[in-house]
Amino acid sequence: MFVPVLLINMILLVITVLLIIADLLLVNYGECKVTIHEEDEAKEFTVEGGGFLLSSLTEPAIAINSSCAGKASCGYCKVKLLSGGGQILPTEDIFMSREEKLSGMRLACQVKIKEDLEIDIPDFLTTVRTIVKNKTYDPKLRWHLIKTGREGVLPEKRVTRLGKDEEQKLYAILDDFKETPGAVVPVLQRINETFNYLSEPALRFTAKSLHMPLSEVHRLATFYNAFSLQPRGRHIAKVCLGTACYVKGGEKILHSVMSKLGLTDGNTTEDLRYTVETVSCIGCCGQSPVMSVNGSIYGYLKPSMVDGILKRYS
Ligand code: FES
Ligand code: FES
Repeated sequence: MFVPVLLINMILLVITVLLIIADLLLVNYGECKVTIHEEDEAKEFTVEGGGFLLSSLTEPAIAINSSCAGKASCGYCKVKLLSGGGQILPTEDIFMSREEKLSGMRLACQVKIKEDLEIDIPDFLTTVRTIVKNKTYDPKLRWHLIKTGREGVLPEKRVTRLGKDEEQKLYAILDDFKETPGAVVPVLQRINETFNYLSEPALRFTAKSLHMPLSEVHRLATFYNAFSLQPRGRHIAKVCLGTACYVKGGEKILHSVMSKLGLTDGNTTEDLRYTVETVSCIGCCGQSPVMSVNGSIYGYLKPSMVDGILKRYS
């Protein structure tokens, strides 16, 4: 019993190897055109058929999400095939929701280029925002959208544009770093300093100017605590709620700051004058309770002193 099963397996293995070799040596797919729709643009390039889409995208520096180097084990390299590409493979199936399959979503690392392809790269930032907003993210399903309907797979993009003034400032920042290779983090730092946060149009602008995928710029922007994706005030008040400050009434100081600034919902005033944050130690425990505004320390605080301090910053 054992010997025939082994024999059949051996024969199947040999046939598979022969088919792979035949596919490599005998089949010539010629040149194939790949058209990519990304955000508002369409890019086009020609590749020698027979390769896989993920590696073909990497060559013209159109990097897309991937963390398994094409082994079909991360499920991040999703693209939407608008034409060409054949049937979805069993290796891709486990990473796709029903809606994604219906909309033509595929794993770029599993799509062999045998003909002209037209693809759409999902907008990662818009996708993540929609997931957060609709609370549709199921970590067990990686980044599947579990809404029903096609619109759930590729959500509508919100129209967000840069103002003229903002655009000029961004051009100036990027110009300062044009001779510095790999300057994305310093560029983001400067943008964050200039605007007090990283807006979505600014992230898009940066990605485009540095020829980087938006997902990568977004990853860096969310990785570092120093960056904010929400608008922040011109002045940053930090109230310490560390142990030393807390026992000396840090919470009362915080309430006083919030009520003086009229903050009930959120921590940034509507006129973008102040953002209030709490910290767990400013390093001046001997002067507790303590707060800082734009880095200047105010110690031995009483709630009655808060108004006077806040008025110093217009
Ligand atoms: S690169 Fe990981 S699944 Fe394609
Ligand atoms: S605990 Fe507040 S400054 Fe250290």
